[in-house]
Amino acid sequence: MSASIIPADSTGIARAARELRAGRLVGFPTETVYGLGADADNAEAVRAVFAAKGRPGDHPLIVHLADARQISEWAREFPPGARVLAERFMPGALTLILPRAGRVIDAVTGGQDSVGLRVPSHPVAHALLAAFQGGVAAPSANRFGKVSPTTAAHVAGELGESVALILDGGPCEVGIESTVVDFTAEPGRAVLLRPGGVALRLLTGALGYEPMLQHRLAPRASGTLASHYAPETPARLVAGRELIRAVQAERDAGRKVGILTLSGPPERIDGVLQYKGGRTALRYARTMYRNLRALDFARLDVILIEAPPRGADWMAVNDRLVRATHRS
Ligand code: TXA
Ligand code: MG
Repeated sequence: MSASIIPADSTGIARAARELRAGRLVGFPTETVYGLGADADNAEAVRAVFAAKGRPGDHPLIVHLADARQISEWAREFPPGARVLAERFMPGALTLILPRAGRVIDAVTGGQDSVGLRVPSHPVAHALLAAFQGGVAAPSANRFGKVSPTTAAHVAGELGESVALILDGGPCEVGIESTVVDFTAEPGRAVLLRPGGVALRLLTGALGYEPMLQHRLAPRASGTLASHYAPETPARLVAGRELIRAVQAERDAGRKVGILTLSGPPERIDGVLQYKGGRTALRYARTMYRNLRALDFARLDVILIEAPPRGADWMAVNDRLVRATHRS
């Protein structure tokens, strides 16, 4: 039996908070993607998250908080640079990696000495966290390695058996996961572990220097695996000017093709399922996972994705598309 999707009104929020207190899992919306939430103080509940996702136990989870003022309860240090980012981007699509406080359990951090903390801006996420009062450990509510969910229906389809309920907050505004910034790898400096909803140039503006990109000591982060965020259907990035020819070649070989473009081609290609992502990175990100899921659902032989521009604004989108198309 699949879990019910319930309206995120005050009754629904109160019910979801009760389920969390009882050690059960809850699907909930954030502005980035939907989360699979568990009481971050309950090791058994947290382990159930890993089991539901099929995620290796040593990949840490993010703890979600109602308010950035709670960070000092979960992190034993809060360096000046991290404070600057918290003031500027919390609530929002930012996750800070900080030295963990004594209360943080091993099940959440995968045994690492750091903890990921995030204060989502989505009103439903905020209301749930405020009602629950504690921290909610939550990864994206998808099976390990698969495409992240941006609607309640996506969560129900993939993890419906594992959750007590799913709060319906409509489609996610940002559509792509939070930016993960680590303050534990390099003394006094920010390291970008995962590009995301907060653009690099905004981090740079706030910090007064550009964060280091990835670090050789970077702890395990599943979003940094080569193949991740991947549809079941083989998917390939293709330069825009090659797209029509690539589609033709696939069809000549008898394969069913779907395409995800930016805004073209101007006329529909007969018999080819086509989604348009949009010309700006913000727009494109908002519908990217939804479009990939729709294409994946169509039982095609191959998905061709028009390669977006290379600019800094597209960094998070390109990061996800490269992983979605990586075949190990
Ligand atoms: O937008 C998001 O961040 C969504 C929503 C639900 O909040 N969550 C999300 O969680 O994307 P997840 O588990 O799918 O990805 C979290 C990323 C992973 O790459 C994880 O390894 C990394 O953050 N992470 C969490 N805690 C960490 C830590 N202590 N050290 C290093 N990386 C950490
Ligand atoms: Mg994820």
